Amino acid sequence: MLVCFKCYFQSKAGKMRSQLMLCALVGFFLILKVNVNDAITFRLTNFVCESYNKSYAVFNTCRLKAVNRKKVLLNMNVTLLYPTNNIGIHCRLFKKANGYRPWTVDRKLDLCRYMRTRYDPYFKIVYGLFQDFSNINHTCPYVGHQILKDLYLRPELLGLLLPTGDYLLSLQWMFDKNAVDTNVSFSFVEDLLLSK
Ligand SMILES: *[C@@H]1O[C@H](CO)[C@@H](O)[C@H](O)[C@H]1NC(C)=O
Ligand SMILES: *[C@@H]1O[C@H](CO)[C@@H](O)[C@H](O)[C@H]1NC(C)=O
Ligand SMILES: *[C@@H]1O[C@H](CO)[C@@H](O)[C@H](O)[C@H]1NC(C)=O
Repeated sequence: MLVCFKCYFQSKAGKMRSQLMLCALVGFFLILKVNVNDAITFRLTNFVCESYNKSYAVFNTCRLKAVNRKKVLLNMNVTLLYPTNNIGIHCRLFKKANGYRPWTVDRKLDLCRYMRTRYDPYFKIVYGLFQDFSNINHTCPYVGHQILKDLYLRPELLGLLLPTGDYLLSLQWMFDKNAVDTNVSFSFVEDLLLSK
């Protein structure tokens, strides 16, 4: 079984660099997974929503709610006032390092096509973060209240892909010609004893 996990190296400049490595280790995954989830802190830190045409889309709710030190819940309720069959998403991930810098993910996709065919493997990861908390799990058209309820980040979905850091996931939506932005920031801290 091919298992993907992260190894950390101390560079000469003293900065932590991360690499994804493929390691062929049978059965290692399950043991590792338990330890990883114990050692990971995955925390939502900010959530910003903006509709650029308020006669088209209106945010009723866009907020984070901390339930304890580790767990923060995201709630969103946006009303689409007209049905649409034409939804574009520009999905970008930024990592903080003297301001946010683009980091690995920069993709545009067609949500209606995605909901029919699940054609994009990268968006599948993003979609996996929110599908269980939302009512958008259907094909186009979309109209009315679009809900994310008490969403929290689950380390098992992303934890094996990301190095420790602060991230910003920017989703720019285009409903016909009406732009909507949702930007969510999160920090990811991992305390693994796997280096060297
Ligand atoms: C806002 O959306 C409405 C409804 O679709 C549309 O009639 C109007 O032209 C849009 N406004 C702009 C500035 O695009
Ligand atoms: C979403 O917001 C609308 C408008 O405030 C409200 O009527 C509706 O009940 C809300 N839906 C949920 C699930 O909270
Ligand atoms: C909703 O998501 C589940 C799990 O991914 C899937 O099995 C189901 O077919 C989806 N439902 C619709 C209506 O797309």
